[in-house]
Amino acid sequence: MNKPLKLGLIGCGVIVQNAHLPGLLEIPGLVEVAAVADPFETNRNLVGDAAEVDASQRYADYRDMLASADLDVVSIATPHHLHYEQVVAAAQAGVAIISEKPMATSLEEADAILEAAKNVPYAVVHNFLFSPATQAARDILATGDFGTPIFGRSQSMIFKSGNQTADNWRNQKAAGGGAINDTCYHEIYLVEEMVGSPVRYVEARVQTKYFDLDIDDLVVLLLEHENGVTSTVATAWCIPAQESVFCEVHTPVGALHVVARGRALRRYLRAERQWEEVDLPAMANMTPEAVGRAGHAGYFAATMKALADGTDLPVPGAKARHNLAIIAAARRATEERRAIEVE
Ligand SMILES: NC(=O)c1ccc[n+]([C@@H]2O[C@H](COP(=O)([O-])OP(=O)(O)OC[C@H]3O[C@@H](n4cnc5c(N)ncnc54)[C@H](O)[C@@H]3O)[C@@H](O)[C@H]2O)c1
Repeated sequence: MNKPLKLGLIGCGVIVQNAHLPGLLEIPGLVEVAAVADPFETNRNLVGDAAEVDASQRYADYRDMLASADLDVVSIATPHHLHYEQVVAAAQAGVAIISEKPMATSLEEADAILEAAKNVPYAVVHNFLFSPATQAARDILATGDFGTPIFGRSQSMIFKSGNQTADNWRNQKAAGGGAINDTCYHEIYLVEEMVGSPVRYVEARVQTKYFDLDIDDLVVLLLEHENGVTSTVATAWCIPAQESVFCEVHTPVGALHVVARGRALRRYLRAERQWEEVDLPAMANMTPEAVGRAGHAGYFAATMKALADGTDLPVPGAKARHNLAIIAAARRATEERRAIEVE
């Protein structure tokens, strides 16, 4: 591998412009954006210009980039239904792969990806694990002083007011997968992390309650973890009265509450019967925008370092497959109205 790693971007949309690229530009010793691919010329050039990518290394078709560019790693950030074919093509080209979530739109595709990518490093973006507030909560729990989790709870109740049309890929069942695949995805891995144990059984209602689209817009999950802890997850795209996003864990000592996937951390101490803000020095000098993208910055820094050093990736494909298996179990639980064991 080159040093810095030579990276090709497949997809140059909103999340690359707002979060991936600023994070990647913060670690020039580890990675250099060497090529970009996107059929939409405006996005391709926006990102190409910001990353100072040579005009000859800006591709309309990612397959031409894989065939011609000198790359160590690609990062895929495209509509969900494209991840499968793009990961398989990148694996055949022999480069390391970082894919945005979800890794695929079905478990069949996920298994085919793991098979195709077994000889190259393959990682999936679970960025909010790397927000400073989530990291601080993990550190507090890891000391053992905060006790053993009793109950976990995560929530993303939002109202999607813009772009709710059927031509948006996010609103198509086959391309985006709805609120559970896109938004609730994060709440699932976050609550697992806070509870400290993988989910074993899922009860759920994954429903379309508001939008006239073929995707779910309301998700309620009841999860039982391998350590016996129960947690709940609720996500909505259709709840205007309650813009509320958090993840929390309760123990005999108190509770930890991560606000908005990492914008702040609150602690409740049973002995003192009150909530308090936890001081987060890592966020002291960050702008609100930098706080919002800190998870991606931390994720890319950790993943690029692991690739450069040849060490274990922070979020390997198997972990992302497990998250997708919980989503598949939730869909089945809704249909069959019973608890489903995660595959
Ligand atoms: N982890 C997070 O917090 C987070 C947040 C937002 C989005 N995402 C993920 O990032 C991915 C992209 O989301 P987005 O919000 O940037 O979407 P977007 O619609 O803004 O961007 C998608 C980009 O992919 C391009 N594209 C389409 N077909 C392509 C192809 N064949 N080859 C290359 N590029 C192609 C489009 O032209 C567009 O520029 C999704 O997987 C989404 O779930 C993750």
